[in-house]
This record gives sequence, C-alpha cells and structure tokens, in this order.
Amino acid sequence: MLNKMTSFKQMVLVFMLIELYTSYGALALSMDYYRMSCPFAEMIVRMTVNQALRRDQTLAGPLLRLHFHDCFVQGCDASVLIDSTEGNIAEKDSPANIILRGYEVIDQAKQIIENRCPGVVSCADIVAISARDAVVWAGGPFYPVLQGRRDGSRSKIEDTINLPPPNFNSTALISMFGRHGFTIQDLVALSGGHTIGVARCASFKDRLSNSDSTMNTNLVRMASMQCNAGDDNTTMNLDMTSTSFDNSYFRALQRGYGLLTSDETLFMDDQTRGFVDIYAMNQARWFYDFQSAMLKMGSIDVKEGDDGNVRLNCHRLNY
Ligand code: HEM
Ligand SMILES: *[C@@H]1O[C@H](CO)[C@@H](O)[C@H](O)[C@H]1NC(C)=O
Ligand SMILES: *[C@@H]1O[C@H](CO)[C@@H](O)[C@H](O)[C@H]1NC(C)=O
Repeated sequence: MLNKMTSFKQMVLVFMLIELYTSYGALALSMDYYRMSCPFAEMIVRMTVNQALRRDQTLAGPLLRLHFHDCFVQGCDASVLIDSTEGNIAEKDSPANIILRGYEVIDQAKQIIENRCPGVVSCADIVAISARDAVVWAGGPFYPVLQGRRDGSRSKIEDTINLPPPNFNSTALISMFGRHGFTIQDLVALSGGHTIGVARCASFKDRLSNSDSTMNTNLVRMASMQCNAGDDNTTMNLDMTSTSFDNSYFRALQRGYGLLTSDETLFMDDQTRGFVDIYAMNQARWFYDFQSAMLKMGSIDVKEGDDGNVRLNCHRLNY
C-alpha cells in the first residue's frame, strides 16, 4: 500500500514535470503525438522489447545505451542506427559503439509499425521508447516518453567525440554533461544506468595495470583474472546485479566497486559524492531523479518539421 502510494506520488510529479517542459513551448514533442496517426505504436514497441528481453535479458543494457548514444551525438535523431556506406563511416563503427547491440529489436518494432502506419513513426522515437521499456523490464521506473522526434540525415564517426570516454574524471564529466544542459545531479542519476549491462576490458584495463588506488583490491583481482584470460573484448558486469535496475550500483561505488574510472570518480569527488550517498540510501529518490533526467535526455536537440524526416528503414536514409 505504502509502495503504491509512493509510486502514485512519483507519477504525479513526473506528469507535472512534463507539463512544465511542454509549456515552455520549446519542445515539439508531446505525449500523444501518434494518437491519431498510429495509436498502437507505443504498445508495439513494448511488446517487441518484452519479447526480445524474454529471450535475452542482457539486451536491456544495450537498448538503454542506444538511446543515450543517439541523443548525445547530433541529438535524438536515430543517427546511431545509420549503417556506414562507401565514403561515409557512420557513428556505429566508432570504438565507442563497438558493443552496442539491439539494432534488430528496433528493426523488428519498426517493421511491425511500418506495416500498420507507413512512414509515420520515427526511428528516434522507437529508440527512446525501447530504452524506457528496457528500464522498466529490468525493474526500473516507468516514465512517459514524449514523442514526435524526427530522424536525422547525418551520421559520422567523428561526431562520436561527444560521447564520454570511460577514463573521464568527474570534472570532465560535469563539463561534458553541462554542455548538454545537465546538472551535476542529472549526471550522477544518469550514470546509474550502469546498474545494468557490461563493459569490455578495453574500457577499464588501464585501472588494473596502474593499480588505481580507488578500485577495491578485490575487484582489481577479479577483473585482472577475467581480463588476463581473455582479450580487450572480454566483458565484465558494470554492477554485481547487472540484470536488475536497482541502486546497488551506488552502494558499490561507496565500497570502491565502480568498474570504470567514470563510475568511481563520482564517489571520489566532493561535487558528486553527495548524490551517490543519497541514491545509495534512497532508491525512490534516485528513480525520481533518473526519470526527470531521462526526460531531459530524450529532448536533446530534437529535430522538428523539415529539419528531419521519418526514415522508412532505420539503417539508411530515404534517398
Ligand atoms: C557518465 C558518463 C558515461 C561514461 C563514461 C560511460 C561509458 C561506458 C562504457 C565505456 C561502457 C562499456 C562499453 C564498452 O566497453 O565497449 C558503457 C556501458 C553502458 N553504458 Fe555507459 N557511460 C556513461 C553514461 C551512461 C549513461 C548516461 C547511460 C544511460 C542512462 C549509460 C548506459 C550504459 C549501459 C546500459 C551500458 C551497458 C551496455 C551493454 O551491456 O552492452 N551510460 N558505458
Ligand atoms: C580531470 O581531468 C582533467 C582532464 O584530463 C585534468 O586536467 C584534471 O586535472 C583532472 N581533475 C582531477 C581532480 O583529477
Ligand atoms: C573486438 O571486437 C571488434 C568488433 O567485433 C573487432 O573489430 C576487434 O577486432 C575485436 N578485438 C579483439 C581483440 O578481438
């Protein structure tokens, strides 16, 4: 009962946030963008994502990360889905996107939606909705996804310089996220996305050989074993409970169990530690801050009208 009340209160707060957002008039996005043109779009995405996750629960992380990597590069415009062509190396072939997966889930949802309402629903919206549904499936909070994004036509490997590398310290993270309009609180709340999924040894092995003093010695030992036995593509869970969307990620940071420099730095720096401590103690508070930060993320540089279009095949431009 108490739980029900808390989540109801949370929902009301989130809807108030949306009111605020949309009343700025700055956003072309809305809650009911496809109500007339494709009323089942959101439901089709949910069913497709749930079906994919029932087969392979490790796809939740990649689906969430797809949306993040889409929005930080050229805005949320599905630029991350474009395939390289002769003469153009696309974002997805950047080292930062090597282990991105889940493209086939987006394709499947897109195909079912195209059959029902051709040329109406953007790939960028499908990516945004899939990320939310993956979070929910893994046990995280539901948040409404505003819709009406248009797909972009530029996807270049060099643009992925806008993605944060794993060795960034909190100062560098704060400034990169700040450029996209995020507060320090948003940065810490969003980093909690690492409560699900994996990282390759390539992303943290420098911490092992330098015996980074902020890394718990137990974790150093486990990670060294794992990475010595494999290669740069060998993966480790970012969080012990890497299939469930919970705040154990933040409790792990308090004990030196953050796998990436960019994770542990959040606990080492005074500017960010306070939020780590709050979220470690209070999962509901983290969920709420995560929801509002995801709303922000989903609205980064959204394209309107003729600035974009609706791609028929998410992998390539229409013409
Ligand atoms: C704060 C700055 C961030 C940095 C430096 C960072 C960096 C990374 C790196 C290096 C990996 C592993 C990739 C590889 O080894 O190839 C990763 C995985 C992941 N990241 Fe982040 N990330 C950040 C923020 C975020 C945010 C904001 C989200 C989403 C809200 C997110 C979601 C994920 C997920 C879910 C995975 C696991 C993917 C999988 O299982 O395949 N990350 N991140
Ligand atoms: C964070 O990284 C930047 C850039 O690499 C560096 O100049 C700065 O000294 C670092 N700050 C801290 C507190 O380590
Ligand atoms: C890691 O995977 C990528 C992409 O599949 C591949 O290009 C690269 O050669 C692999 N690296 C190693 C060390 O196996």
